Amino acid sequence: ETRLLDDYRPWPFRIAETRLDVTLAPRGTVVRSEIALERSGPGPLVMDGGAGLRTRAVTIDGRPVDPAHLTIAAESLTVAEAALPDRPFAFAAEVEIDPADNTALEGLYLSGGMFCTQCEAEGFRHITWYPDRPDVMAPFRVVVRSDLPVLLSNGNPVAQGRGWAEWHDPWPKPAYLFALVAGDLRALADRFTTMSGREVALNIWVRPGDLDRAGFAMQALKASMVWDEQAYGREYDLDVFNIVAVDDFNMGAMENKGLNIFNSKLVLASPDTATDADYERIESVIAHEYFHNWTGNRITCRDWFQLCLKEGLTVYRDQQFTSDLRSAAVKRIEDVVALRARQFREDAGPLAHPPRPDRYEEINNFYTATVYEKGAEVIGMLRRLVGEDGWRAGMELYFTRHDGQACTIEDWLRVFQDATGRDLAQFKRWYTDAGTPRLTMAEDWDEDAGRLTLRFAQTTAPTPGQPDKPPRVIPIALGLISPNGDEVLPTQMLEMTAAAQEFSFDNLGARPVVSLLRGFSAPVTVERTMSAADRALLLAHDSDPFARWQAGHDLALEALVAAAQGGDPDPAFSRALAGVLGDGTLDPAFVALVLRLPSEDEIAAGITARGAIPDPDRIHEARESLAETIARDHQPALAALYERMEPQGPYSPDAGPAGQRSLRLAALGLLSRLDGGERAQALWDAAPDMTQRMGALAALVRLDRAGTALAQMESQFADNRLVMDKFFTIQPIAAAPARAVAIARSLAARPDFDWKNPNRFRALIGAVTANPAAFHAADGSGYDFVAEWLMRLDPANPQTAARMMTAFETWPRHDATRRKAARDALERIAAMPLLSVNSAEMVRRILAAG
Ligand code: ARG
Ligand code: ZN
Repeated sequence: ETRLLDDYRPWPFRIAETRLDVTLAPRGTVVRSEIALERSGPGPLVMDGGAGLRTRAVTIDGRPVDPAHLTIAAESLTVAEAALPDRPFAFAAEVEIDPADNTALEGLYLSGGMFCTQCEAEGFRHITWYPDRPDVMAPFRVVVRSDLPVLLSNGNPVAQGRGWAEWHDPWPKPAYLFALVAGDLRALADRFTTMSGREVALNIWVRPGDLDRAGFAMQALKASMVWDEQAYGREYDLDVFNIVAVDDFNMGAMENKGLNIFNSKLVLASPDTATDADYERIESVIAHEYFHNWTGNRITCRDWFQLCLKEGLTVYRDQQFTSDLRSAAVKRIEDVVALRARQFREDAGPLAHPPRPDRYEEINNFYTATVYEKGAEVIGMLRRLVGEDGWRAGMELYFTRHDGQACTIEDWLRVFQDATGRDLAQFKRWYTDAGTPRLTMAEDWDEDAGRLTLRFAQTTAPTPGQPDKPPRVIPIALGLISPNGDEVLPTQMLEMTAAAQEFSFDNLGARPVVSLLRGFSAPVTVERTMSAADRALLLAHDSDPFARWQAGHDLALEALVAAAQGGDPDPAFSRALAGVLGDGTLDPAFVALVLRLPSEDEIAAGITARGAIPDPDRIHEARESLAETIARDHQPALAALYERMEPQGPYSPDAGPAGQRSLRLAALGLLSRLDGGERAQALWDAAPDMTQRMGALAALVRLDRAGTALAQMESQFADNRLVMDKFFTIQPIAAAPARAVAIARSLAARPDFDWKNPNRFRALIGAVTANPAAFHAADGSGYDFVAEWLMRLDPANPQTAARMMTAFETWPRHDATRRKAARDALERIAAMPLLSVNSAEMVRRILAAG
């Protein structure tokens, strides 16, 4: 059933308080609810509920509802208007549910003997009958009963005794923010004093053996609390803040009020089990969930179409947090790389949708890169357009005006309109229109007048359901660089509002090179003709780190696109690297990013954008061959860097040493193409931190000489799930494409391939989809393998299965043989009996493209 944005209707009741009394048992948990209601509009009382609720009693003001007035359907419970009092009344229900059966991990489920919940988006309806929609908010009072030692819910603890605990959350919240946890857990405990002097008890709850790996998450939590006070004046608002780590979780983490629940891989870290990238991700996700307390919880969404209201803004905030704590330049480049890899790809294919969609069948299919990451980019553009003062005034007004409300994108934009006087009607298209605008720039140079004229044009290709794309407002940040590398015009913010527009710059002595889209000022693709020499000039001299990196990246991309289509690779990129490798003043993390070649998927997208059909095998070969060329051209410099970038002293996940390691490992990856893997083997044998071990292991797997290392990893970490996930990932992802699927098949046959665990499933099956030449193998073996496993997973866990189907979204760009193989695999999935709504919607949308 399709839901439409335009169908929104308010619920005709208000809730004064929600009381829950939950007696836990793996099979037969009893949930008693009592909901204090008051009418606010006409109509019957309709509650949401899922299959799996065994309803034992339904009462109004304590009296059973007359069966003539009660309808219990598959997904709803209705009490007729005639059976409802005119004054405030209490609806109560008693239901029984089976958490042990819950492999979908939505609602109440068991993970490693621990009870936990995931209610966003619509999981609460699997716990009891309720208005499971974000615009119905209530304070909650919850009693949890179980023999397990630790019993948690949202808000503040009220009282506890043997086998029970009571919690009270005074802040009205929608059901999706409800949480409950019970288990044999240990806390890493700490305290925080807020800016107004409120004392907050902080706890990170983990399984007994994991306590020594929770310290970094705690540090990140405290840093987040300080940052939100300083950056936005936002203070925490309860006496306790609890975080729980669970092993079985469909996504990353969840911002339940006062009781965040995390995938354990985003909490647990130690130098010998987690990589620098894991540490950085833990820090940012801890921050993300904490920041939701204001952008998501205090101010929530009216309906799920507005998801990017909280997610785009909260991603934007966590990105700012990371750039403040680490390197802003490096963070920006990393975010853009990720945006292009996931969101541009989504926007260019059959699953394209706007940051605020206007229809869906299954909302869980819309927790996407578009809603999250593009949602964050749109906010960055808004900030650029309204300026710093406008941004600050707007945010202040947003928090004061909408505290305690369930809001829309219209509310959000109105705040900035009111705070700045700026008309945001055209800007709103960024929220309502799908697709990535393509920005072209042509240059006219008038030598006599010393005038440069830039002629811009924007177009956006049609996307599913949206054939016409009117022009958008595009903030274009640019600067001008003279031929000798000086900046002759510092960053200007141009505002493009029409389909085509010109901007001129006068009084220029010599023809400058345009440093375009500085800081990635808008999520668009850029097309311009530019010589390799000019790109090399920007790579050497641009004052804007993003544009500087982009210049190098474009050189590499052009060379690879040409080589993968049978042309001769332009040596300009490798030549330009000499300057970068020799410049000791550059941040090592930045140099590592310059050395990172465009991904195979990005090269394929580049070939598609030029109207040709990409060949995944040739792309892989072109990329391997460029890496080898670079290694040969720069062997001494790389070898020196490899030695020089060895971090000294004990491991620290901070940006400085992490950047050194990333450059060291980039050098290692290149050198291993010449030394047969000697350095990688030596590094592995030295058993340094997990970051360097994984860098070494990737090189060894690629060279097919990782047997011993893998055996050692297995014996050392057999009982560490998170490390073993890496064991499952590194083999199919780093192996030569021709071997990857066979390797994955044998890994899938291992007894510890616990495929019902989402992390383990993603570790292995996701790794195949991330090795493009293997996944897109011409014989269809990659598609078949992945489809087979998606069909096995779907009945158990529809959310995680449906999410991984995005791997197929690029199928229309391939040749006829591959298209047929992909279509066959997708049609097998589509034809599966009892296919979930989640997967059915995804397959239908993906197939519609071809
Ligand atoms: N709100 C969570 C976050 O942004 C994501 C949870 C979504 N879960 C889901 N099953 N759709 O961190
Ligand atoms: Zn979020």
